[in-house]
Amino acid sequence: MQFENHKVLRVTRSRDQTKAVYDKMSRFYDYVAGAFEKKYRNAALKAFQVKEGENVLEIGFGTGKCIEQIARMVGDSGKVYGIDISAGMLKVTSKRVKKAGLESRVDLYRGDATRMPYGDSKFDAVFMSFTLELFDTPEIPLILSEIKRVLTPSGKLGVVSLSKDYGETIPLKIYEWFHKRFPAYIDCRPIFVEQSLKGAGFSLEYQKCMKMFGIPVNIVTGKSIDSRKIVFT
Ligand SMILES: C[S@@+](CC[C@H](N)C(=O)[O-])C[C@H]1O[C@@H](n2cnc3c(N)ncnc32)[C@H](O)[C@@H]1O
Repeated sequence: MQFENHKVLRVTRSRDQTKAVYDKMSRFYDYVAGAFEKKYRNAALKAFQVKEGENVLEIGFGTGKCIEQIARMVGDSGKVYGIDISAGMLKVTSKRVKKAGLESRVDLYRGDATRMPYGDSKFDAVFMSFTLELFDTPEIPLILSEIKRVLTPSGKLGVVSLSKDYGETIPLKIYEWFHKRFPAYIDCRPIFVEQSLKGAGFSLEYQKCMKMFGIPVNIVTGKSIDSRKIVFT
């Protein structure tokens, strides 16, 4: 596989800066980014097909719109866990979950997803919406390998991310220009989603390209290749 990671913009801010930005944005996130990202999140959740009784983790849950939907999907016999670096986001999501009466199905944790506090094979599914593309290029394989660790052998991964998988379009280049100038606030940057997942040992089961202001958004679901057990008889 030809890796083209040199074409992906690097992330230079520290974890403390990330945390500070999202703490600040947490109170109004739903009115800006959250509103126009809704249709992509929902398309991804539809493709992701969470089942009743499953244990699901969302990484970078933000204001908790997906956490709430996933909590309804898993029912009383399942559980949804969330990890997010921002205390502000955790506060907003906790309020949402409480208001929806879903507290018993939800377990939220404030922390860095490169160091997850969960045991091996804990989750049937892991979901990330507009979050994988916030990690710096060398961290992407690390976080995907951490996801593999916490997934059961047959567990699935769902990702929605700004994407370079469909070529360098003009809207994408304009967006990258803005990202380079205002990296703190226009912080998601397009990455090679398909290549990253395949490179980390996931086989893709579903893939759909949508556009956000002309910028490709890739919605993918995949499974760990190791889950395809070879049985010798
Ligand atoms: C662009 S927002 C997306 C929020 C939500 N998933 C959505 O689609 O609306 C990214 C989220 O990832 C969180 N985040 C960023 N870096 C993180 C890290 N290293 N570990 C855990 N969460 C992180 C941020 O605090 C923020 O809530």
